[in-house]
Amino acid sequence: MAHSAQPTTETLALVAPQTDRSFLWRRLHSLTGIVPVGLFLLFHLFENMNALRGAEAYDAAIAKLAELLPPPYFYFVEVGLILLPLAFHGLYGTYLALEGSPNLKAYAYRRNYLYVLQRVTGVLVLAFVVYHVVTLRVGLTLRGLGAGVPGHEGYVGFADMARAMASPEVLGLYLLGVLSAAFHFGNGLGGFLWTWGVTIGERSRRVAEWLGWALTAAMAVPMVAILLKFRA
Ligand code: HEM
Repeated sequence: MAHSAQPTTETLALVAPQTDRSFLWRRLHSLTGIVPVGLFLLFHLFENMNALRGAEAYDAAIAKLAELLPPPYFYFVEVGLILLPLAFHGLYGTYLALEGSPNLKAYAYRRNYLYVLQRVTGVLVLAFVVYHVVTLRVGLTLRGLGAGVPGHEGYVGFADMARAMASPEVLGLYLLGVLSAAFHFGNGLGGFLWTWGVTIGERSRRVAEWLGWALTAAMAVPMVAILLKFRA
């Protein structure tokens, strides 16, 4: 039988009261992976899919969002609803990744590899998000160094992304970052359903795993297409 990295309902019922707090933190970590972080990832992908319709459509979509949510509300939402929950999920996730014991030698099963890959991609996504935010939001937007979007010069537009993606090294970093995020969210969906007791039996766990792979593929394809479009 595959080694299960997560506690079962029976073991949870037996935990001593002093470990209850870490149980709550893990639940919060699990929840933030879906709401708001996972939902934001989906929204961010949909927003960027406008690039597939060309530079004008991309910039127009950003201008529309800027009008709907002008600064400082935009920054308030960005920091409060996205960056803080992501920082919590990412930092607590790093702690879990360091304390986890995959037992790859003893149990070389598929789920054990997925368990390790979930942690490795989490750390890669954290490094990528820091790079992504620092180079675009701080480097271009806040310092006003980007071309921006017509009428909204403080935003990152198609031309800015195209300039960044012209470098093969930057494109490589983006490919690694977005593919890690797609896998982490897709595989994490199964983990979430397990953590919250939605999938209990082996059969439902398998269905969740397939759903996770479908979500990973559904995100990975447009992600790669968008990055390549910036180079077209
Ligand atoms: C795009 C951003 C991210 C999204 C959408 C996301 C989403 C998720 C989801 C849905 C789960 C499953 C929760 C569960 O197993 O109950 C998860 C688990 C996990 N995440 Fe993330 N995550 C993101 C970023 C990160 C980062 C930056 C780290 C930093 C290391 C991280 C580390 C982890 C770890 C270690 C787990 C496994 C927890 C466990 O099995 O107990 N995640 N993530």
